[in-house]
Amino acid sequence: MTSSPLAELSTHVQDLLARVRGALTLSDLLADEPFIVGKRSILSSLQKSLGALAPEDRKEAGATLQEARRVVEEAFVERRRVLEALRRAQELEADRLDLGDVVVSQVRTPLAVGHPGIVAATQRELEDVFVAMGFTVSDGPEVESDWYNFEALNIPPAHPARGMWDTFYVDLGEPETVVLRTHTSPTQIHLMEEAVAAGTLPIHSVMPGRCYRRDTPDARHLAAFHQIEGLVVDRDITFADLAGVIETFTHAYFGADISSRLRPAFFPFTEPSAEFEITCTICRGDGCRTCSQTGWIELGGCGMLDPAVLEAVGIDGEQWSGFAFGFGIDRCAQMRHQIADMRALIDNDVRFLRQFS
Ligand code: DAH
Repeated sequence: MTSSPLAELSTHVQDLLARVRGALTLSDLLADEPFIVGKRSILSSLQKSLGALAPEDRKEAGATLQEARRVVEEAFVERRRVLEALRRAQELEADRLDLGDVVVSQVRTPLAVGHPGIVAATQRELEDVFVAMGFTVSDGPEVESDWYNFEALNIPPAHPARGMWDTFYVDLGEPETVVLRTHTSPTQIHLMEEAVAAGTLPIHSVMPGRCYRRDTPDARHLAAFHQIEGLVVDRDITFADLAGVIETFTHAYFGADISSRLRPAFFPFTEPSAEFEITCTICRGDGCRTCSQTGWIELGGCGMLDPAVLEAVGIDGEQWSGFAFGFGIDRCAQMRHQIADMRALIDNDVRFLRQFS
């Protein structure tokens, strides 16, 4: 009896499985593929030799060999999957190392996160102070009609008082009928109109926002700047209420050692009107160059609502009275942080901006 060609099959299978396990890289395994599961494998040779068997033995031997091939092929496929995954991981690792420095430095130095600019931060602080005093905060448009910016505020067309505001006109509609607001005072008009229409008087509100003037920027002026307007319309409001609000605000925002004073002035929309000044924050009142040796710095204007303004918005001046004030937010920031030149606010020099983070 000739020995079966499959006599040593299990040894061959063990050898082949060892070869599969012994391949440590995908390319090694693939290089060996023809000898493990391909045409040059011992299993293929054995397959051919089965032809010499008697037909009755051939079927069983064929099935045995088929099972052996299945085992080896399964091991091969599994090993290939593992080595492919390994290679992918190595490629990723290599990529990461290529970028090594960048990745590491980003992890060590967190990306710089921005912070509100000094004007925005000042506006929020001012809003907080006034909200704590019982005011609401309102918004108004930056593009206004001549009526809101001037006429309703008792500044008729061609009136000399218009010279107080160098105005940017918008090329819209009739010439000189649409303007970039020169102050936040027109928002007073919107608020009063709305309150009259909705029947919601009294009003205690502040209105911060951007304003525009045809000014050449200098150490104390910007062409686009910010104001905050205050408006109180209620019963029995007196000038003493106005002075009290200004003084309370001044202490709350600038500190206990900074006071306010009111000096007679003229504004078309208030009567009487005043300029309000605060103790110079540079010299604390002793007198210096910034305050022209007076010890005082002008911050804004204020006064009792002019009857003509109440009339323009349909408020009965017999029943209601009120006051208004307005001052520069940028100027406030300048005084509070002792910024010598206001143009620093728009220069975008990060060395300046970072001081206020
Ligand atoms: N709107 C004025 C200006 O920009 C400032 C001002 C003065 C506002 C008196 C007021 C006020 O509300 O009563 O020059």
